[in-house]
Amino acid sequence: MSIVMNETKWNVRRERKMSEVRNQAIMDVIKNCISKKNNDIPFYVADFSDVLYKCRYWKNKLPRVEPYYAVKCNSDPMLLSLLVSLGIRFDCASKGEIDAAMAAGAEPSDIIYAHPFKSNTFLRYAASVNVDLMTFDCEQELVKIKRVFPQARLVIRISIPNVPAAFPLSNKFGCTLKQAQKLLVLAQNLDLNVVGVSFHVGSLCEQPFAYAKAIGMAKDLFDMAEDLGYHFTLLDIGGGFPGSTGSTDIFDKMCYYINEALDDHFPEGCGVRLIAEPGCYVACSAYTLCTKVIGKKLSTDMDSDDGEIYKQQCFYYLNDGAYGSFGYGFEKYGYRIRPLLSKSQQASRPILRSKLWGATCCSSDYIVEDCLLPEMEVGEYIVFDNMGAYTRSLTTGFNGFPMPMTHYVFPPQPINKNDKLPPFEDYCKDLGSNKLKSFVKIQDYICHDDSNDDLFRKG
Ligand SMILES: Cc1ncc(COP(=O)(O)O)c(C=O)c1O
Repeated sequence: MSIVMNETKWNVRRERKMSEVRNQAIMDVIKNCISKKNNDIPFYVADFSDVLYKCRYWKNKLPRVEPYYAVKCNSDPMLLSLLVSLGIRFDCASKGEIDAAMAAGAEPSDIIYAHPFKSNTFLRYAASVNVDLMTFDCEQELVKIKRVFPQARLVIRISIPNVPAAFPLSNKFGCTLKQAQKLLVLAQNLDLNVVGVSFHVGSLCEQPFAYAKAIGMAKDLFDMAEDLGYHFTLLDIGGGFPGSTGSTDIFDKMCYYINEALDDHFPEGCGVRLIAEPGCYVACSAYTLCTKVIGKKLSTDMDSDDGEIYKQQCFYYLNDGAYGSFGYGFEKYGYRIRPLLSKSQQASRPILRSKLWGATCCSSDYIVEDCLLPEMEVGEYIVFDNMGAYTRSLTTGFNGFPMPMTHYVFPPQPINKNDKLPPFEDYCKDLGSNKLKSFVKIQDYICHDDSNDDLFRKG
C-alpha cells in the first residue's frame, strides 16, 4: 500500500502543476472565444489534450483492462470521433447510442450493448447491425433475447450490494450469484451463448476496495459456470471511476485494488479478456462551461411565515441551468466555479453571499443555492470546471433555451514558454492505436484556433 501512496503523492503534485497551467490556458481560450463571439448562448470548451492524457493514464494504470467508453456520459460526436481514433471501444445503452458510436466510426464489434433491459425494437436493431455482445440479469430478458437475437453473446450482470457510491446501481440492475446460477442453467436450456460476467459498483464509487470484492464475486461465478460446462472468456468491471481534476488519488487506489484482484483471480495468460466501461473518468475534466450572467437582483432579508429568516443574497440569473447542463446530480461530479474576472476586479469587489439561478421559469431551476462570490455584473461570465460528465447529455431544451455550443481545443495554449504542456506525441505514446491517421485529421481541425461558426458545434 505504501507504494501506492508514494506514487499517488507524486501524481497529485504533477496533476496540480498541470492543472494550474491548464486552468489559465482554458481561461485564455474562453476570453478569446468571448472576444470573437459575444453572444448569449452558453458554451463549453472541450480540451481534448485532457482526454488523451486520461486515456494514456488509464493504459499505464490498468494495462490489462480495455476501456469501453460509456456513451451515455457525454455523447458529443467530436469526443466519440476522437476516442475512435485512439482505438477506444464503446458501451452503448440504446439504438441512439449505437448509432452515435457507429457514426463516429466504431465497428459493431467495438460495442457492448450494456443495458440489461432492451426493448424488442432496439434488440432487433442491434441484431441488424451485428452488435452482438450484450448484458442481461434476469429470466425474461433471456427469453426475449432467445426470441429476437438468439446468436447474441451474453454477459451476465451481477449486483454488488452495499457499495457506497454517489449513484448506486445495484438496486436497479444485476442479480445475485444464486440467481445467476439459475439463469445459467436456463440459458443452457435455451441454447444461448453466455460468454462472461459484468458488474457496476455504482457511479462515483466511494470505496476503492469494492472493485476487489466484485472481482472476487465474479470469479466465484466463473467457477460456478465452469462446473455447469461453460467456459467464460470475458470480465467487464463496469464504470464508477472519478474523472474530475484532483481525483487521481482515489482513482489510483481503485487501480491498485483492481490490479491486485485481477492478478489473484484472473492472472495474465488465463484467457479472460478484461474490459471496463468508464464514463465520467474519460469526459469529466475535459469540458469547461462558460455561462453568462443575464440578470441580477439583490434579495432582501425576509422573515418567512414559518419563522425562518432568509439572509440577504445576491441573485444571479444565468443562461444555463438545471434543464440544461446542470441536470440531476451534477453537483456530485466535482464542478468548480470561477468568475471570469481579472485579478484587480476580484480584489476590488465585495464578496457577497450569492445564489445562482438557472435560465428557465421553473423555481426549482437553480444551480447553486448559496455560495460566496465577488460581486458580478450583468453581461459578465461565470465559468464551471469539470463539466464533461452527465451534463450535455442531460439537456432538455425546456422553455426554449438553446443547448450550449462547444468549442474544441487541443491543446490549450500554454501561458508562457516555461509552462509547456507535454507535446501531443507524449500523450499518444503507448496508446497503440492503429487509427492515428484519422486522429491527425481531427487534430488539424481542432487546432484551427479561429472561433468561427464551424468550430462552434451545436449540441
Ligand atoms: C452499465 C453502465 N456502464 C457504465 C456506466 C458509466 O459509469 P461512470 O460514468 O460512473 O463510469 C454507467 C453509468 O450509469 C452504466 O450504467
